[in-house]
Order: sequence, then structure tokens, then C-alpha cells
Amino acid sequence: MYNPSYSPYVPASEPCIKAAASPRFHQLHSEDDDAVRTEIERGLRADRPSISPKYLYDELGSNLFTAITQLPEYYPTRCEREIVERHATEIARHVGPVRSLIDLGAGDCAKAERLFPYLAPAQYVPVDISVEYLRQAVDRLGARYTELDLVAVGTDFFETLSLPPDVGETERLFFYPGSSIGNLAPDHAAGLLKRIREACAGGGLLIGVDLVKSRALLEPAYDDPLGVTAAFNLNTLRHANRIIDADFDVAQWSHVAFYNEAQARIEMHLQAETDLTVTWPRGQRSFARGQRIHTENSYKYWPSTFKAMLERAGFHNVRYWTDEREWFALFGARA
Ligand code: AVJ
Repeated sequence: MYNPSYSPYVPASEPCIKAAASPRFHQLHSEDDDAVRTEIERGLRADRPSISPKYLYDELGSNLFTAITQLPEYYPTRCEREIVERHATEIARHVGPVRSLIDLGAGDCAKAERLFPYLAPAQYVPVDISVEYLRQAVDRLGARYTELDLVAVGTDFFETLSLPPDVGETERLFFYPGSSIGNLAPDHAAGLLKRIREACAGGGLLIGVDLVKSRALLEPAYDDPLGVTAAFNLNTLRHANRIIDADFDVAQWSHVAFYNEAQARIEMHLQAETDLTVTWPRGQRSFARGQRIHTENSYKYWPSTFKAMLERAGFHNVRYWTDEREWFALFGARA
């Protein structure tokens, strides 16, 4: 077939294969349906029932999360934006030259885009669980930044950080904003930081972390008076119904969120408001009134603790910037 990108007049000794057009899309590892079903069923049958926070994010859940970020009580998104606005030049200088900007959990790519003028990456690599989530945003970026090499990757980066071969190996900056690392228990977070360090040797990391603060400030951010966070949490049950064909009745459950100070984490749970039984084709589970399903942890850190964690993971030149109230921190480090 006629290929317009192939020129027959290039001498045979010269490489004549142009890099494929940007943007490019790769779907790498994705969990198979049976593994997903089994994980949810096992969580429901456990002595301490749980559903992983990743099931908060079906289509409606993702929209509800966007709504959460617009609530006056939910400070992290605004704090992080304030930090970037106030310190972008200094942050860019600190993390050093960036060839490939690798954005973990990129979503709509808006946070990374705000850094483009300061970091001036040659390549932008948004990573999310499904490459389909990235398509719209990446096509839009492709139209706006015609010189930028765009490589969108769908993978579960909690499982693996191996990236396609067209992702540059040098001067990588991993960008992990939003304090999503807070979903992991500190030992797992430390493991992920080590794997990021290995994947960006010679480059760096820019990561958002929510800070320890008073219960009075933390709890309303996770239990807002409009009930948006409640809807976000309860929607997990509808998502679970679709995945395992269960019969959760959302009306029988309520949203519970509190700060566990001993563990420095917000916990979200779903609480049965009556004695009930949930059934699905391969099993069932009874819940007594007041019994809970644990759906999320959101760990908060002291700056010194998180700095030490980054250093233990092998990062150096660790420093951080905060918003004016010192509620949130953006850490920059070299690998
Ligand atoms: C997306 C994990 C950063 O922990 O603050 C928001 C999720 N849960 N409200 C967080 C969330 C309830 C959020 N992260």
C-alpha cells in the first residue's frame, strides 16, 4: 500500500522510518474481569470487609470526584494548585532538566499542562489505568502542543512501572500529584517510591502529599455537608453491583468518614443501617446493622516523615513547598 511517510528518494543507507505520529496510545497491563470479580468477592467475605478504593472510580465516581475537588471543604486540590502557581519556577529549577514528563494518574492532564511552560518537556507521558480515560485530553494536547511528543499509556502503575520502548529513558521526571500516594499504607507507599526511583535514575520526582493537621480541618473535607463525598463513597456499591452482579441497596447504607489520629489517616467506610444480606451469583454476605465495609484510607504525613521516606527510597536533594497555610506539600527530589 502507498505510504505517504515513506520517501523512495532517501538513500538506502539512511534510516527512512520516521517516528510514528504523535500522539501514540498504548494499553499495557489491565486486570482481567475474573481477577476483578474475585478481588471484590474476597473483600466482601473477609472478617473485616473492604472494597478497594480503585472501585470508587467508575464513570460516575470519577465525575463525583471532580465535584469533590470543587467543594470549599476539600482543600488538597486548591492547595496544590496554589503551590504550583507560587513556586513553579523554583520547582522547575530544583528538579532539573526534563526530557520525559511521566504523569501518574494523569486523568484530564490539566495539572501537568500547567507545568509545561516551566518544565518544557520534549515528551509527555500520561499514565492512567485505562488509556481510554486519556484519549480526549491527549488529543486536545496534541492539537495545542504540536512539538510535544505524546505517548499515552494505560497500565496499573501500582502493579508495574515498565513503560513502552518509545518512552525516553533519560531525564525522566515522574509527576504524582493529588496526594494519591495517601491511599497506600506507608510500607506500600515506600515500595512504590523505590520502584519510581529505579524507573527514573538520573531524573527526578514531583509528588503531592497531604499533611497532618487537626481533625477539625480534615474531617469536613471527607464528610462534606452537601453529601458529595457520601455519594462518591456510596457509588462504590453500585459499581460493585455491576462487577459481581450483586444486589446492594444503596439506601440501606451510609457514608462514614473519620480521622484515625493514631494512624494519621482518614478512613472511609460504608455502614449498614439495618440488618441485611447481599447476594451475588457466587456467594452472599450478611451484615448486621452498624457493620462496615472499609473503602479507603487517605494517609497524611509530617513533612519530615515523608522526606525521610523519599531518602530511604534513594532520592536526594529532597525539598518541599507548601501552600500558605501549610496544609499540603509538593515534594521535589532527584533520583
Ligand atoms: C484521590 C486519593 C487523593 O484521599 O483525598 C477524596 C480521594 N476520597 N475524598 C483523597 C478522596 C474522598 C483522594 N485521593
